[in-house]
Amino acid sequence: MGCPDGPVRIACGGCADPRTRGRARWSVYHRPGVLRVPDDRLVETCPGGPDRPGLACPPFRRGTAGRARGDLPRDRPAASGRGVARAGNQRAGGARRDAAGKGNGREGGTSERDPPAAARGGRLARAGRAGTAPPSPGVVPRDRSWPSGDLRGTRGSAAGHLRWLGMTALALQAAGVEHAFGETVALRNVSLDVPRGTVAALLGPNGAGKSTLVDCFCTVLRPDAGHLEIGGVDLMRRPQQARRRIGVVFQEPTLDTRLSVRANLAVHCAAWGVPRAARQAAIAEALEVAGLAHRADAPAASLSTGMRRRLEIARALLHGPEVLILDEPTTGLDAASRLALWDHVTGLAARRDLTVLCTTHYTHEVEAADRVHVIAEGRIVAEGSPDELRARFGHGVLRLRPRDLAARRAVEAAHPDASWSDGMATIRPSPPDTVDALFHRWADAARDISIERASLESAVLALTEKGT
Ligand SMILES: Nc1ncnc2c1ncn2[C@@H]1O[C@H](COP(=O)(O)OP(=O)(O)OP(=O)(O)O)[C@@H](O)[C@H]1O
Ligand SMILES: [Mg+2]
Repeated sequence: MGCPDGPVRIACGGCADPRTRGRARWSVYHRPGVLRVPDDRLVETCPGGPDRPGLACPPFRRGTAGRARGDLPRDRPAASGRGVARAGNQRAGGARRDAAGKGNGREGGTSERDPPAAARGGRLARAGRAGTAPPSPGVVPRDRSWPSGDLRGTRGSAAGHLRWLGMTALALQAAGVEHAFGETVALRNVSLDVPRGTVAALLGPNGAGKSTLVDCFCTVLRPDAGHLEIGGVDLMRRPQQARRRIGVVFQEPTLDTRLSVRANLAVHCAAWGVPRAARQAAIAEALEVAGLAHRADAPAASLSTGMRRRLEIARALLHGPEVLILDEPTTGLDAASRLALWDHVTGLAARRDLTVLCTTHYTHEVEAADRVHVIAEGRIVAEGSPDELRARFGHGVLRLRPRDLAARRAVEAAHPDASWSDGMATIRPSPPDTVDALFHRWADAARDISIERASLESAVLALTEKGT
């Protein structure tokens, strides 16, 4: 792999060290002179040293990583395929570490095997903000086992890598967040974790507190209590740094409809400090992402609602955030467009290695999410994968048409809450009864009897009571 002109992923695919051969596989993004690490992280070379001695990249420079401002969006080879080889100096792969100074006490340990690493001050070198001191020795993460697998693609192994590196595996974290607007309590002790590289849905009815939580994550609102982190960065203490890690699409459209599609993107580039030289390429990529290259010079006002949402999403990604936060992006879209937009978002997340938090009040939309956090009246009332929620909180219903009048009276007496239509009762079992138990109980008394299995909608209705 050569050193490209643009940002590129450099992966260490294993090395000569017999302890680690074929197992270390880390990624960094960089361009000449700038090691592209989107957060202030330590950078570590593979303990066995550069696995590709001929790697033609500029030398690692301590203190240049984490320069998110002015950096190009991370290149994802699958998405853009950039990466033109260029001659230069040698360099190998690296990996990110916690900016909070959690070293693993291993610096200097490879000086014999890895002279370049030793020359930089050891196997670990801090690549946070310029001038940051090297990690203090002796702070050792508990899990010292060597991670296996590829950082990308397999979520389990990614978490292992990050744990080993001392980094948080969480892209978003809220703990005990509270917020009130005067007398109206919008968030009550909200805690929520979103692991890196996953798609999370925040599902709840109108007024549940979804936008308030999004506003807290975006630093638009300061919560009354609690703790919020984005990629390990404390939102309250370092809001600017946290903001650079997120791209946001707010519930209310924020496009300037009088400007062209391209101009809307250009304004965002300027606001986010995307370097002038990189803007044209970034805008072209965003137009591609939004599927709007053919409408680039049309006024945004001429776009359909779905196109505008896609444009807002592409715009939110211009500065290369790690996390995409979408507040009800499907509002105003018809059913087909809603599903298409979710496909678009999940596809983007996979191709760009993004973490996504998306709010919605449509139950069927969250099937695409890895994890669903159900919020009602300002509280997280349940969380899990769609299947887990269905299994835990969903309930089936029994439909039965009694065989005769005596059977109908018996059903009415046993299930006063049953709803009746056209001689057919719909019975929702109350715990500990299950729908299967009810089926067996009434099978002999019924002319027609059937079970409707648990749906996610029924689970959410049960959780939020007033429904979505
Ligand atoms: N600026 C505000 N001033 C006063 N109350 C507010 C404000 N913003 C939100 N609220 C109240 O906070 C509660 C949560 O509102 P929020 O907008 O977060 O809900 P939501 O889940 O996003 O609802 P929706 O699905 O309708 O967008 C509601 O009771 C709302 O009326
Ligand atoms: Mg809202």
